[in-house]
Amino acid sequence: IRVAVLFGGRSGEHPVSCISAAGVLSHLDPAVFDVSAIGITPDGAWVRVDPAAAIAAAETPLPQITTGVSVVLSPDPTSAVITPAGEGPGSSGVDLSAALDVDVVFPVLHGPWGEDGTVQGLLELAGVPYVGNGVLASAAGMDKEFTKKLLAAEGLAVGDYVVLRRGRDTVAQADRARLGLPVFVKPARAGSSLGVSRVDDWAELDAAIAEARAIDPKVLVEAARIGREIECGVLEFPDGRVEASPTAEIGMPAGHEFYDFQAKYVDDVATFSIPAELPDVVTKQIQDMALRAFTALDAQGLARVDFFVTDGDQVVINEVNTLPGFTPISMFPRMWAAAGVGYAELVELLIRTALA
Ligand code: DAL
Ligand code: MG
Repeated sequence: IRVAVLFGGRSGEHPVSCISAAGVLSHLDPAVFDVSAIGITPDGAWVRVDPAAAIAAAETPLPQITTGVSVVLSPDPTSAVITPAGEGPGSSGVDLSAALDVDVVFPVLHGPWGEDGTVQGLLELAGVPYVGNGVLASAAGMDKEFTKKLLAAEGLAVGDYVVLRRGRDTVAQADRARLGLPVFVKPARAGSSLGVSRVDDWAELDAAIAEARAIDPKVLVEAARIGREIECGVLEFPDGRVEASPTAEIGMPAGHEFYDFQAKYVDDVATFSIPAELPDVVTKQIQDMALRAFTALDAQGLARVDFFVTDGDQVVINEVNTLPGFTPISMFPRMWAAAGVGYAELVELLIRTALA
């Protein structure tokens, strides 16, 4: 099976994608797959990358040079980046139709221009099967406003929030009273907690909005759900079955306000327990809600649904990730490993489902 792994990309999650892709590339069985790797630079150029170099680069802090492309990846994901290596043959990008002349594409891309339906639309146009969610689910899952709207329409509990579109710069008094403090201020369309801040005092709101707006003109101000942070994976099998994984709980040590980019990828301080220690009835409810969220977004292939569980065991969906991380610290592969589906089997299943 000829598979092209697409990674990097134009979003702020470029470095996370490089590390996810190294994980996927290193787990594709060479006896089954004929693998090519296509990197997308932060400014949008498509470049062919030697898969082995992409894997090696993610494991070493030193830049790796491959034909025509310098892949600079490091365990510090804030610095992982793909850059074309100057002038010369092979450095100025790839012919799209040649790159997409494969049996299936695995877009291991996170964030806008990759996880949001744009690349999926390109692949639809090109008529190439691809792993994971289609245009609609990708676009809806990327946009936290529309995710909440679709989930709520399905009767699923989501937190209270206010949308600040371009031109609306603050939260009205009535909304402040309703949301209470703290609130979380987020770019509507981003991931890995980029641009997210926790606001404990309304005096901090303007700065938080400005930080989120640097990433997306549309900003969400969400009521904080104080409680435990639980995640659940959803996987579609080649025969059409859709199953929910064991749950995972994210724990944050004292001193970290929330599970932000720094805590996730740079400090790597979050703790995880799989399965989360929850009453059976709550676990069942989370898995059931994860499956309903998958249907509500018309999802395909995979999703990771993130929840808050309050002290009173009230379960609320925080968000749906339509292309969750595949890095060594990412929850989606770990939750499936706990269900007996190892990383290599997981990527093969995803590809077989795409081709089914
Ligand atoms: N957006 C990151 C990659 C995640 O959801 O895991
Ligand atoms: Mg996310």
